[in-house]
Amino acid sequence: MKIAVANQKGGVAKTTSVICLGGVLIKSCSCLAIDFDPQGNLTTGLGVEVTEGQLTTYNVITERSSAKEVLVPTRSGLTLLPSDISLASAEPELMSKIGNFFLLKEVLEPIESQFDHILIDCPPSLGLLTVNALAAADAVLIPVQCQFFALKGLAALLETIQSVQKRLNPDLKILGVLPTMAERNTIMTQDVLTSLKGRLKDIPIFDPVPKSVKFPESNVAGEPIHTYADDSKLVKPYQTIANTIMEVQSNGAKKSKVKR
Ligand SMILES: Nc1ncnc2c1ncn2[C@@H]1O[C@H](COP(=O)(O)OP(=O)(O)OP(=O)(O)O)[C@@H](O)[C@H]1O
Ligand SMILES: [Mg+2]
Repeated sequence: MKIAVANQKGGVAKTTSVICLGGVLIKSCSCLAIDFDPQGNLTTGLGVEVTEGQLTTYNVITERSSAKEVLVPTRSGLTLLPSDISLASAEPELMSKIGNFFLLKEVLEPIESQFDHILIDCPPSLGLLTVNALAAADAVLIPVQCQFFALKGLAALLETIQSVQKRLNPDLKILGVLPTMAERNTIMTQDVLTSLKGRLKDIPIFDPVPKSVKFPESNVAGEPIHTYADDSKLVKPYQTIANTIMEVQSNGAKKSKVKR
């Protein structure tokens, strides 16, 4: 299953969620993580340093380099399509290209059967890269930080998802919203959780990920949370999402068997 992790708001734990969810999925499945953000935080967070002349997502998207040639293993067990700042020039370069919403979808076609799951870390914008990720994905996971203004912008993201569903990818599902950096017993966190439940009637809301310094520490260490910190409270929300993904995938497989 291909899952885009998206929210145009910065710093809501998109990258952390890809690392943590990937870290859980990799225990029982093969998993590719795509760094689709010019900041390259997923690449760094998985302990990979892009060296001079190394091919990255930029080359795959703009020059049609084969994605297979660009993949790198990481010590977490996840395979990575790495990125660096060069990806920033992809959007202006590709703006006038015909079919430019489907570039990621096309480059994934030859390699996607090698992986049970593909996680796409989107940049904090609703530009061409995020639209490409949504056009290529089966589902989108939306991390939302339990902070003031957290819901601001969510409507714009949901509208973008709806337009992608209507015009580019009718099969795109919303896997759910993941409240992140939740602080126990604070009014702020409770307000955000209540507003999410009030506003998102048809969208699943996953159990919140607690705020913990172990997350930034694990990012710096280049490790998923479950290997960095032996704390089930921090891992559990990601385990629940991984279970949902595996369930959705096995239901999809059953349905396609019936169709055949
Ligand atoms: N549950 C958490 N508790 C505390 N800190 C967290 C948690 N999850 C993520 N963080 C920290 O918050 C910061 C932002 O997280 P992250 O980089 O994953 O967000 P992002 O949405 O990918 O950001 P960007 O939009 O810039 O790509 C990082 O320092 C990360 O370590
Ligand atoms: Mg990020």
